[in-house]
Amino acid sequence: MAIRNIRLEKDEILKKKSREVDVIDEKIQTLIDDMIETMYKNNGVGLSAVQVGILKRIVVIDVEDGEGARVLINPKIVKTKGEQEVDEGCLSFPNQYAKVVRPKEVTAEALNRDGKKIVIKAKDLLAQAICHELDHLEGITFVDIMIPGTLEYVEPNKK
Ligand code: NI
Repeated sequence: MAIRNIRLEKDEILKKKSREVDVIDEKIQTLIDDMIETMYKNNGVGLSAVQVGILKRIVVIDVEDGEGARVLINPKIVKTKGEQEVDEGCLSFPNQYAKVVRPKEVTAEALNRDGKKIVIKAKDLLAQAICHELDHLEGITFVDIMIPGTLEYVEPNKK
């Protein structure tokens, strides 16, 4: 496993659309392991493959709900319900936060890393994380959809 470099806000790749994964091979498994390690190393709750420079429809998410790192390959949101206004950040936009409106609940379908179809019924933070990461696969970042004027720069904690 290895930590991969996270592409930052000015990087044009973040605006590109990712492609479906058709074969979950060794290379994809390594990518997934690296994405999980990179997400944890940077204290993120989610990471998409495009953020490490790979235009494939893969996201990893861990909202610390006891489920560990969820792996979603070729994910789709099939149902949404309600709305929530939430603070959001992104590992590609260090120290920046803004308010966005997300669905309160989502149902998503994807393949797991074994290629098995999974259905995730999510609400609150998990619903937010799924929407955020799936946006990345379309080349959309949170600053594209934030409530205008809510972007804040927060100094990192000096420890
Ligand atoms: Ni992000």
